[in-house]
Amino acid sequence: MKNATLHQLKVFEAVARHNSFTRAAEELFLTQPTVSMQVKQLSKAVGLPLFEQVGKRLYLTEAGKELYTTCRELFDRLAQFETSIANLKGLKQGTLRLAVVTTAKYVIPRLLGPFCQRYPGIDVSLTVDNHERIIDGLIDNRDDLYIMSQPPDDLDVTVHPFLENPLVVLAWHNHPLAKEKDIPLKRLSEEPFIMREPGSGTRQAVQKLFDDQGLELKVKLDLGSNETIKQAIAGGLGISILSIHTLALEGPNSPLTILDVEGFPIQRYWYVVYPAGKQLSIIAQTFFEYLLNEGKTVAEQTSFQGILNQGRF
Ligand code: PGA
Repeated sequence: MKNATLHQLKVFEAVARHNSFTRAAEELFLTQPTVSMQVKQLSKAVGLPLFEQVGKRLYLTEAGKELYTTCRELFDRLAQFETSIANLKGLKQGTLRLAVVTTAKYVIPRLLGPFCQRYPGIDVSLTVDNHERIIDGLIDNRDDLYIMSQPPDDLDVTVHPFLENPLVVLAWHNHPLAKEKDIPLKRLSEEPFIMREPGSGTRQAVQKLFDDQGLELKVKLDLGSNETIKQAIAGGLGISILSIHTLALEGPNSPLTILDVEGFPIQRYWYVVYPAGKQLSIIAQTFFEYLLNEGKTVAEQTSFQGILNQGRF
């Protein structure tokens, strides 16, 4: 192992975590041949194969599993070391590791702006992924803080709400329902519906709403991003239910409109979450307090409230 490098271990850890060379390459901004080469060299240093390919699936060998556990321990220790050093240096420099669900990307970068201006020495590493994969990261304790709308009930976590995250029904502005008032929920189940992908928190919330009412949606399309869904709505493919934050940058000429449906908007919240008992670095603690104390004000100053007030929505 003396010939193995930290870089090779990082590459290996990402491949093992994603179970995929392609996704590891994407995460690390490397090409796939580079990732394969790094893993090959590491495997040579270990003296045993680390992965085996069966059909299209990738499996860790026994040696691979041992090395993966070792890597996780090693990187946790290194992160602790970085935290101690950042604490010793005070807030002058260090990295804030945030992991946020896809929909939160409409809010968090805008909140980070004033924070980073206040603390110019702080770099931010922002992971954006769907609900399911952010929960995986939380279980593995990969980041400092996690932002989501549905904190897990089955994990021991500390949870604080900091901002409203209402769900609204979106349609093309010329949709026949656009001018109706107090539309019954049942009416929505007759419309072609565009749904977020499995694993999305928005999808879970929408599914639960209709299940609770004993209604079935006519899902025409499953799409993996809020932006694609907005384009599909604008293309007249159907209606959808998304966070109002997805409209943050829509102007008065947006092709989208919010339908007036009974029981809507559905009130949800953004929560900042971390494993219970985790010792937050001074940087993470500062951002945590900033979110709780100023998050709402900063989000409102720069968001959809302006659009709402302009009349179209
Ligand atoms: P999503 O989560 O981006 O995975 O849909 C958002 C949410 O839970 O509100």
